[in-house]
Amino acid sequence: MIVFSIGIRMTKNNVLAILMKNDGFVSGEAISRELGLSRTAVNMAVKKLREEGYEIKSVTNRGYRLISSPDLLNYGTLMGYLSEVRMRDVECYDIVGSTNYELAKRAVEGAHQGTVIVADEQKNGRGRKGRAFVSPGGHGIYLSYLMRPSSELKKKIANSRNNMAWSSITAWTSVTIAEVIEKNCGIRPDIKWVNDLYMNGRKICGILTQSSFDAEVLEVQHILIGIGINVSELYDDFPKEIRDIAGSILTESGVAVSRAKLTSDLILALDEMCGRWPEGMDEYLEKYRDWNIVPGKNVLVNYGDSTEQVYALGIDDSFSLRVRDSAGEEKRLICGDVSLKL
Ligand code: BTN
Repeated sequence: MIVFSIGIRMTKNNVLAILMKNDGFVSGEAISRELGLSRTAVNMAVKKLREEGYEIKSVTNRGYRLISSPDLLNYGTLMGYLSEVRMRDVECYDIVGSTNYELAKRAVEGAHQGTVIVADEQKNGRGRKGRAFVSPGGHGIYLSYLMRPSSELKKKIANSRNNMAWSSITAWTSVTIAEVIEKNCGIRPDIKWVNDLYMNGRKICGILTQSSFDAEVLEVQHILIGIGINVSELYDDFPKEIRDIAGSILTESGVAVSRAKLTSDLILALDEMCGRWPEGMDEYLEKYRDWNIVPGKNVLVNYGDSTEQVYALGIDDSFSLRVRDSAGEEKRLICGDVSLKL
C-alpha cells in the first residue's frame, strides 16, 4: 500500500515537471512515452494534480496544458525548475522539526556538498541565540544547505591562519538571498548586520549557520546554512509578539512570488556562492557593505544580559561592525544582535 502511494506521488511529480517545463500543450501519449507509464497512470496523475489545485486544461488531440498552479512547495514543484541531477541531493518535507536539525543528521552520515533539506512547515524552527523561528505551513521557505569544504579548501584556510574566514559565509549568504529575492520580486531587501534581511523596516528573512569544527586538526568539517524566508504570510499570520517587526515578501513588496521558483533559484545561487568562496570575497564584501542599513546609525547592541547604545561606523574587511561607544571608544563587533529601534 505504501509502495503504491509513493508510486502515485512520483508519477504525479514527474507529470507536473513535464507540464511545468512546457509552455504549450503536451500530449498524453508523449508524457506516457517519456515516463514509461500507461496512459491510465498519466490520467490519474493529472486528476490528482487537479485535486491539489492545479488548473490543467485538456483538449482532445492536443493533450494537457498547465494553466495555473497553487503556491505549493514540494518535491514535485521543485522538479519543475531543477534538473534531475540536482534534485538527487534535495529532500523535501511537508513538516519537519527543524531543517537544520535534519541536515545535521545527514551531515554526520556523510552527506556531500550541496545537500539540501526543504520544508513547507517547521514545528521547531530554530533561530539565532536559541530563539524560535516561527515557521507556519503554506507561506514560507525553510531550507538548510550543506557546505562541505574540500580538503584542499580546508588546508588553504588553515594555512592562511584565518579560520575567521568561515564566519563570512553567513554574510555571503545574506548577499546571495538578497540577489535571489530581487530577481524574483524586483525589490532588493536590505541587509541588517549581521545577517537579517529587511524590507520596509520589517524582517522577511533570517539565517542560522551552524558549523562542525574538528579541534584535533583545527578544521571546519561542514557548515549548515539555515535560511527562513517569509514569502506570503499576512501580518495576522505572525504571532502577536513579532507582528510589529515581521513582514513577508508579499506584504512588503506586493508581489506574489512562487515559493518553488524562489527556492530553486536560491539552491542554484548557493551552489554558485560555494563555488566562489573565498575567492570572491571582495565582491561579496562590497555588496554586503552597500546593502547594509546599519552603518551611519545609532543602534542598540544586545549583549543578552545588557544593552548598549553605540554609533555604527561601518563594516570592516572581515564583515565585523565597527562602532563608537558613548565614551568615544571604537570597538569591533564580530557577531551579535543590533536593533535600529532605540
Ligand atoms: C534568525 O533570524 O534568528 C535565524 C532564523 C533561521 C531560520 C531557518 S529556517 C530553516 C533553518 N531551520 C531552522 O530550524 N532554522 C533555520
